[in-house]
Amino acid sequence: MFRTAKRDVALNGQQIREGDRLALWYLSGNRDAQVLDDPDQFIIDRRHSRKYLSFGAGIHYCPGERLATMQLEVLWEGILEQNLIIDVVEQPKRLHSNFIRGFWLFSHRHRFDLVSDANSAVT
Ligand code: HEM
Repeated sequence: MFRTAKRDVALNGQQIREGDRLALWYLSGNRDAQVLDDPDQFIIDRRHSRKYLSFGAGIHYCPGERLATMQLEVLWEGILEQNLIIDVVEQPKRLHSNFIRGFWLFSHRHRFDLVSDANSAVT
């Protein structure tokens, strides 16, 4: 995503001119060492954990955030209920993107381990 500067401004020692197009680097923002302790660690209960930038910030904040988080909730509930096991069969290849931290190749086999559930029901 981009923004266009409406006026000249100096920011963190960089001169930005009116009309310059600026790329938003959300991934870096979520790992900003000036804001977060241990920015590269996955700390689910970190202080200010709701202040991540994955859905943007300010006037253009993602209006689909509630839908997206609800979909993720349903997905994770399904995965956990059915005990989905994913076996990675090849080194995954990462996507080169300033927006999505993902993979373009993720070879895997998956199965649902319902046996352990059945066992726990009879013990
Ligand atoms: C995990 C899923 C999603 C992620 C990570 C995501 C992320 C984002 C981000 C970072 C922005 C801000 C862009 C900016 O600052 O210019 C944005 C904007 C937007 N998102 Fe999402 N989004 C997701 C799902 C959705 C869904 C499900 C919808 C619609 C149903 C949606 C609709 C929009 C729209 C219309 C904007 C533009 C808002 C504006 O420019 O004022 N997004 N999204």
